[in-house]
Amino acid sequence: RRYDVVVVGSANADLVVGVERRPAAGETVLGSDLAVHPGGKGGNQAVAAARLGSTVALVGRVGDDAHGRFLLDAQRAAGVDTRAVRVGGAPTGVALIVVGPRGDNSIVVSPGANALLSAQDVRASRDLLSAARVVSLQLEIPLETVAEAVAVVAPGTRVMLNASPSAPLPAPVLAACDPLVLNEHEALEMLGGATEDTPEAWCTALLERGPRSVVVTLGARGAVAADPSGVVRVPGIPVVAVDTTGAGDAFTGALASRLARGDTLAQAVGFAVRVGAAAVTRAGAQDSFPTAEQVPAAEGS
Ligand code: RIB
Ligand code: NA
Repeated sequence: RRYDVVVVGSANADLVVGVERRPAAGETVLGSDLAVHPGGKGGNQAVAAARLGSTVALVGRVGDDAHGRFLLDAQRAAGVDTRAVRVGGAPTGVALIVVGPRGDNSIVVSPGANALLSAQDVRASRDLLSAARVVSLQLEIPLETVAEAVAVVAPGTRVMLNASPSAPLPAPVLAACDPLVLNEHEALEMLGGATEDTPEAWCTALLERGPRSVVVTLGARGAVAADPSGVVRVPGIPVVAVDTTGAGDAFTGALASRLARGDTLAQAVGFAVRVGAAAVTRAGAQDSFPTAEQVPAAEGS
């Protein structure tokens, strides 16, 4: 295969301001200097996997503007093949991000060019998708584009989907997910509200919705993975959080990287938890993602 990982997804310029507390409606607060970081869930996953040593291509859309050039440069600097990123038609996607004192964030995304990434664009990249070991998807692009990506992948290519931001998924998309990756909030939303159950029980219930496997990320508490052979819990790694932006994308990109190498789901999740932990210790999304050498060692190794 030509690529370990092909990501079909969004690219955003992340405009980030740190605050002591978030403003309420109608309120103004002062924050830190503005930082501009390369982001977007698709771009983040691509850089995460590339930085860990995978061969990666991105299928996406950016505007013909300074943000678009900034994002393409960041992808190329990480070694991502960007020939399937179309340029123009709308402004580059932007994420307005407020980061609180404990590294927690609130994000508003203006999709811009990401909203133009079409089923036709996916069909035009069919050869690329067929040359991938793993195709990795998220939901910051139109759902019909995601559905088309699922439809065109060759048999033998593994499909992963990070269902973020949450949206109801058509049955053929769910059925292709191996794994479906969600955070706690997205898992509960898909299950239809709060339950008293454990994350292990959520995974089992989500598996019954049709995906081949499920991973629920638990932030600092690690992650839980389930496939028909059983459920595995991977504990978190204690770190001081500076900026959690993109940690889920670092996790998912790392998962894709390891699944492309042939790891089991449990092995890949164990590694991805450590990559996600490394990512929260530094500012920005892509700018904080580790190389293989920078990933903290597994406990007991
Ligand atoms: O998942 C984090 C990403 O979400 C940020 O980089 C931002 O661009 C938003 O898309
Ligand atoms: Na970070």
